[in-house]
This record gives sequence, C-alpha cells and structure tokens, in this order.
Amino acid sequence: MTLDEIDKGGFQHFMLKEIMEQPESLRNSIRGRIIEEEGDVVLGGLADVVDKLASSKRIIITACGTSWHAGLVGEYMFEQFCRIPTEVEYASEFRYRNPVVEKDDAIFFISQSGETADTLAALREAKLKGAFVLGICNAVGSSIARETNAGVYTHAGPEIGVASTKAFTSQLTVLALITLLIARKKSMSKIDGKQLASELKLIPDKVEEILNLNDQIEKIAEEFKDATNFLYLGRGYNFPVALEGALKLKEISYIHAEGYPAAEMKHGPIALIDENMPVVFIAPKDSTYEKIVSNIQEVKARGGRIIAIITEEDEFLKNLVDYTIKIPHTIRMLMPILSVIPLQLLAYHIAVKKGLNVDQPRNLAKSVTVE
Ligand code: M6R
Repeated sequence: MTLDEIDKGGFQHFMLKEIMEQPESLRNSIRGRIIEEEGDVVLGGLADVVDKLASSKRIIITACGTSWHAGLVGEYMFEQFCRIPTEVEYASEFRYRNPVVEKDDAIFFISQSGETADTLAALREAKLKGAFVLGICNAVGSSIARETNAGVYTHAGPEIGVASTKAFTSQLTVLALITLLIARKKSMSKIDGKQLASELKLIPDKVEEILNLNDQIEKIAEEFKDATNFLYLGRGYNFPVALEGALKLKEISYIHAEGYPAAEMKHGPIALIDENMPVVFIAPKDSTYEKIVSNIQEVKARGGRIIAIITEEDEFLKNLVDYTIKIPHTIRMLMPILSVIPLQLLAYHIAVKKGLNVDQPRNLAKSVTVE
C-alpha cells in the first residue's frame, strides 16, 4: 500500500473517500475482463476451472456481513442466468453444522479482507470435505485467496473505513462477471451476453451520476438523523440491498435498522410502523414495481415517513412519499450496484451529523480475525 493510497485524499473520512472512489474501483474490477464484441469475459483466475464451474450441480456461497449480502445478490444472478441451484450461508453457520458437500458442488468464499476467521474456518472445513473451493477476495495474497483452488480478485483497492462500501460494489461486479462467464459457457446467447457486457461497462458512469446527489442526500440525512429506528425494504435483487442499507446505518450511526423483503412486511414488521419509523424503499421501475407501490401505500396509511429510491421521473411516487432519490436505470441484475450507493451516503451523513466516529465505529474491527 502506498502512502497516497492510505491518505484520505482531502475527504473528511475514509468512508466518504471510498464511497466517492466507486466509479474508479468499479472500472478497476472490470478492466481487461470484458470482451464486448463476444459478449463474454476473461477471468484469469478461473481460466483452468471454468468448465468444472459451469458443470457444477450446485453452488454454495459462504461469507459474513456485507460480503454475505453480496453473496445473496450472487444467488439471484447464478440462478437466473446460469440455472445452477445456489445457496448462500453465513460462514459461521456453515462451519459448525457438518454441511453436506458433494463432489459436483462449487463453493465460493467472499471476503474483502480474505482473513475473516469464520470464512477462513468454513473454507478449511469445506476443503476437509474435498470440496471445490473458490475465492472472491479484495486483499491480494490474503489467506482465503491463497487457500482456495481458484478465484477472482475484486481489485477495489485498499478499504480502510470499517463500513464496507467500494468492496461491496466490486464484489457485485465480480459476481456479475462470473455469472456472464458461466452463462456463456452454458446457454446464454452471444447477443444476450453482449447486452449484459455493455450494461456492465456503463455502470461506473452511472455510479458517478448518483454520487452527484450527495448534497441532496445530506439534506435528507439532516431530516432523519434523530430517528431511533429504520426499516429498509426491497424486492428481488434489491432485497439484499435493503439488508446492506440497514447494516450500513446500524454499524456507523448506532440507529437500530432492519432490512426485509418488502412483501414480508405484512408478516410482522408492519406492526412497528408509525410516524417514528422511517422506511426506505428501493423502488425501481421493474417487474415488481406495482407490488412495491402497494407496500408503500400500506406504510403511508400508517403514518410512516418514506424515502424511496426510484429510477425514473415518477410523479406518482413523488406525491406519495416524503423524499425520492432518483438513480439511473440498468438491468435488474446490476441494479444493486446502483441502488446501494444512496444508502451508503445516507448512512454516512446521518453518522457524521450525529458526531460519530464513522471510520472506526465502536466495538467493530475492519477485519474480524477472531471468532
Ligand atoms: O473482510 P470480509 O469481507 O470477510 O468481512 C466481512 C464482514 O466482517 C464485513 O463485511 C462487515 O460486515 C463490515 N463491517 C460491513 O460494513
């Protein structure tokens, strides 16, 4: 790591610097890996195992915290495009429950640091069972990167802030690249591959557009900084983003926050809704839009204050909710890379306004190397 890399670069906190670096970190994750005219990708770390991976009967993704959230998005990607049954499990659970591992399974271990104790122990347990193990790591040469059979680096660059931001979006990007690699080996056509590849290439510029909303999001943070609870709701690919938004808020602002699939609200969390429970909805114009709108109406009818992440001029939602944050459109599988950015900024600004130590929140370490 050079001094330059660990410098705050003029930003008040590493976390803000890392949020703002995302257009560049995502370009680095993609660089040299997409062959746009072929609608395909090259991932050097998987070159020798790509056939084995594509013929896997099942994929298991194991991780902790934010990396586990990335894994949940990966599950949606692998099942939608590669048609391989995929399970996601907390590393801490996987390692202790004597999991069934078959010879045709591929097990991914996702970790920014590559040193998380539970993920490393799960990897060693999987290896003892003879599993085919793969890493998605940021830290080059880390234990998980070294001990896996193959893998892909995220190339997000050093992440210093305890709250993971750019590492998460790079993990999602690498998962999308792996999806494209496997899907093209299987049944995805060149035309569909090209469309996915070109959408992926547009992502860094779209992230840049969202970062321009920083001032608007800071104003929203001012309105909500005294809240004591928050609910985050999303559907499909944006359900893991709801979990991630809630985790970002709770770890740096110490505000209690929960993420749920929006449809689960009526099975319990709806009892919590009143004017003291702000709700963040991730409501892009996709196939679940109408359903999300009805969830929003349910919250509004109970006096809840709502922030909605939307993807188009949406007069209807603008009139219905308290605040909208408009982000650019992309295909569903890539939407989490965009929709999480406003949630990172919202958590950041709320924590700063509360005067908290954003980069080193209490009780937390950047790399959890103990059980
Ligand atoms: O280094 P890892 O990705 O293995 O770390 C996993 C978690 O400890 C980490 O993502 C943690 O949840 C972050 N503080 C979230 O912001």
